[in-house]
Amino acid sequence: MNMNASAVHKISSHPRWVATMYEFVAPHWDNLVNGPWAESIASTRLSVQEMQGWILHIYPFIYDFPKFLAEALIKVEDDFSRTFLIENIRIEKAHAEHWLWMGEGFGLDRQQMLDLAEGGTPPLRDVQSLTDWVWRVNTKGSLAEAVAATSFAIEGVTGAIARKVCAGFEAYRDKPGVDMNPRTYKWIREHSHYDDEHPKFALEIVKHYAITPRMQRQVMYAAKRSLELLHLALVTSTQTLPAKATSAGFSREAA
Ligand SMILES: [Fe+2]
Repeated sequence: MNMNASAVHKISSHPRWVATMYEFVAPHWDNLVNGPWAESIASTRLSVQEMQGWILHIYPFIYDFPKFLAEALIKVEDDFSRTFLIENIRIEKAHAEHWLWMGEGFGLDRQQMLDLAEGGTPPLRDVQSLTDWVWRVNTKGSLAEAVAATSFAIEGVTGAIARKVCAGFEAYRDKPGVDMNPRTYKWIREHSHYDDEHPKFALEIVKHYAITPRMQRQVMYAAKRSLELLHLALVTSTQTLPAKATSAGFSREAA
């Protein structure tokens, strides 16, 4: 995203508790970026069906993402945070469309993805947990918790994962059933480049609003919970092949 130049000047040095937060979330962050799930895409080892699994089942969360940010926007009291969230909502709406393009490139049906996001078919339990958590923290949590859970943790780790898997993802161009065109890799490429700044600006907002030790602890827990639930959602969705979850209205995986 492009915040205005004066916003960039607001980047400040980190207080001590931020280092503690990085240490606290590090194992969960590392599990996502360097664990078996990301490794299996980075080395193009997941089957095309497994790729379809996570692209389909995570889509409801991607579809809802701008709405989470809109809930946090209600809480803001300063222009920096307001600009960040408004801009981010606009960008994330476009990214939800790019996710559909990614799915189409891997042979998924656009309508199948939309049906899942719009409630026509039930989302996976672990994707529901992730979505409910991020929804709850954005509506009921403090602004610091909301931004830590959403833009710092989820968007931050997403950028790191995208950078990790980008080449392996594009190597699926050689697999039958995959059409690796510029629309297919747009989501991954964009997240490995320009989402870089979101977590940095998000951290500035968190630092501005988390002013008591109690709030700072809550922020750490919120970031950690997002990373834990994202990991579960990615692993489960990869193991749930699209046909199984959508062929029957009451599939066990979807219950
Ligand atoms: Fe995004």
